Amino acid sequence: MPAELIDGRAVAKKIRAEVAARAAKLAARGIRPGLAVVLVGEDPASVVYTTAKGKAAEEAGMYCQNLRLPAEISQADLLARVDALNSDPRIHGILVQMPLPKHIDPDTVIRRIDPAKDVDGFHPVNVGKMLIGERDGFIPCTPAGIQVLLRESGVSTPGKNCVVIGRSNIVGKPMAALMLQDNENANCTVTVCHRHTADLPSHTRQADILIVAAGRPKIVTGAMVKPGAVVIDVGTNRVNDPKAKSGTRLQGDVDFDSVREVASKLTPVPGGVGPMTIAMLMANTVRAAEMAGR
Ligand SMILES: NC(=O)c1ccc[n+]([C@@H]2O[C@H](COP(=O)([O-])OP(=O)(O)OC[C@H]3O[C@@H](n4cnc5c(N)ncnc54)[C@H](OP(=O)(O)O)[C@@H]3O)[C@@H](O)[C@H]2O)c1
Repeated sequence: MPAELIDGRAVAKKIRAEVAARAAKLAARGIRPGLAVVLVGEDPASVVYTTAKGKAAEEAGMYCQNLRLPAEISQADLLARVDALNSDPRIHGILVQMPLPKHIDPDTVIRRIDPAKDVDGFHPVNVGKMLIGERDGFIPCTPAGIQVLLRESGVSTPGKNCVVIGRSNIVGKPMAALMLQDNENANCTVTVCHRHTADLPSHTRQADILIVAAGRPKIVTGAMVKPGAVVIDVGTNRVNDPKAKSGTRLQGDVDFDSVREVASKLTPVPGGVGPMTIAMLMANTVRAAEMAGR
């Protein structure tokens, strides 16, 4: 039987409705959650992402400041903008869209964001809190969204072998750290694979839950998947497709057709992990406002 598809759009819609209700509760106390979305330059994919994030914030009843800064802005000027947002009481969450132009060091910018407003969860303070299992920090949106997707799809995680392909600070590492935590949505035995992993299929075939975040189209095929495994495809690779209107389409890291024949549950691309990332950003922002209490 082909794998059941995990509908990320439906779960994200539910999360966004919950966020809107929490924002309305805050509004009744005179607090409007505020998100600042900072875009440096005009990278087309980043323009699409930041526009979508701003729209989602407004739909949830939040205040949203979309800052579009020129690609030539100096690092010092960008840091000054971050400082201003840190001290702006209307702003509870700050997101600086990556990647930044080459002359700006992303780590310096991330470290400048007030950890209490770091709704992307990339500041070392929040990364550390996540690792030690403290719950008052912010968890990066994509792995947080994947954990919610698993929960909402009825996937039991304790005792399962979870294999993560990819060790980026944005997806792979926080994903592995989350699945390792001692709680009912985690408690997995976790393996993390990367470019130096010897014999990748020997690891992926052990996975009850396989999370693929390599940024390599179709790197995982059906032959690499344990029958009945749950497979989460994080990859969003733009590939040429002469049949598509635009000439390109989104391709996941998973070979959908062959994996669907082996897995029990699978996320599609698009419509799987992607919508959850934005929904969790909204959840983090409303939480930032609740914690700030102003
Ligand atoms: N849907 C969403 O909301 C969302 C959000 C974030 C990212 N993404 C997508 O998810 C993918 C990963 O994103 P990222 O930011 O984590 O990418 P990244 O920073 O490029 O990291 C990719 C990771 O995959 C590993 N890798 C690459 N090729 C591999 C191979 N052949 N075998 C084993 N491991 C391999 C790399 O290993 P090394 O460390 O050894 O180089 C690296 O750790 C991308 O397609 C991105 O567009 C989607």
